[in-house]
Amino acid sequence: MPTYDQYAVIGNPIDHSQSPRIHTIFANQTGHNLKYGRILGEDKHFFQQVTEFFANGGSGLNVTLPFKELAWQLADQCSLRAKTAQAANTLWPLSTGQLFADNTDGIGLIRDLHENHGINLQGKSILLLGAGGAARGVLYALWQQQPSRFWIANRTATKAVELVKQLAPYRTSQDDIQGGSLEILDTEQFDCIINATSTGLKGKMPQIPESCLIPGGIVYDMAYANEPTVFVRWGHEHGAAYALDGLGMLVEQAAESFLLWRRIRPETTKVLELLRSFI
Ligand code: ATR
Repeated sequence: MPTYDQYAVIGNPIDHSQSPRIHTIFANQTGHNLKYGRILGEDKHFFQQVTEFFANGGSGLNVTLPFKELAWQLADQCSLRAKTAQAANTLWPLSTGQLFADNTDGIGLIRDLHENHGINLQGKSILLLGAGGAARGVLYALWQQQPSRFWIANRTATKAVELVKQLAPYRTSQDDIQGGSLEILDTEQFDCIINATSTGLKGKMPQIPESCLIPGGIVYDMAYANEPTVFVRWGHEHGAAYALDGLGMLVEQAAESFLLWRRIRPETTKVLELLRSFI
């Protein structure tokens, strides 16, 4: 057996993943003896790949696209945030041998906003764009910030309505939460707009009204690139005080996974700066 603890990220594609780089920096920084690899996941063999990784002594797995939902299904137990997302990005074995699943995407987003940029969403109006896996992953964490309004708009309205239904157990009678098509935005304005659609992959913007952002508001693109994304550019052009991409969220969700596995929170500021120069 190796003298170090073994971790990995599994996804498809996986070559581009920055997780090995991030976790290796965290390990060096904290003096933890671990190795962190990449596994190219295969649709038909995902369950077997995960099971084998842990059977061979693996200490923890990060899961990325397109396997987050499957990872949640595979686990024996999960956190509330993984349950709400119906998806997991962090797995580890319990002492009983059972597999535990958590989801650190939402807290990663919140910590990036709060710790790295001093942004508190409490009492703010939030618009979440998209209703796929990425949106589901941050839904509960955003709701926990107690926004004054929380709207979810998606090209396919029914999926946004479904997301709102998932929050039903946690809602109060007074809250202002709505889900629907992008058309519901009409003349609405929000303090903070978060892009969880995959439009950026095609270099596009979701079709939202030009006046959707309150001047001096916050625009957050969960995607990132080596230059400002289309959504970040839109924010700058529409008077945002903050127009941020998702690189900070990537580092923060990794730090949360590291904390869950190793019981120590790594420092993220320098890692984020370093990563920015790599992408
Ligand atoms: P992910 O796991 O990255 O969230 P996904 O589950 O396929 O990927 O979800 C992609 C999201 O981007 C969806 O909300 C999708 O809208 P639909 O539900 O209508 O498909 C959204 N999306 C993709 N292309 C879009 C476009 N051109 N305009 C607006 N929304 C788009």
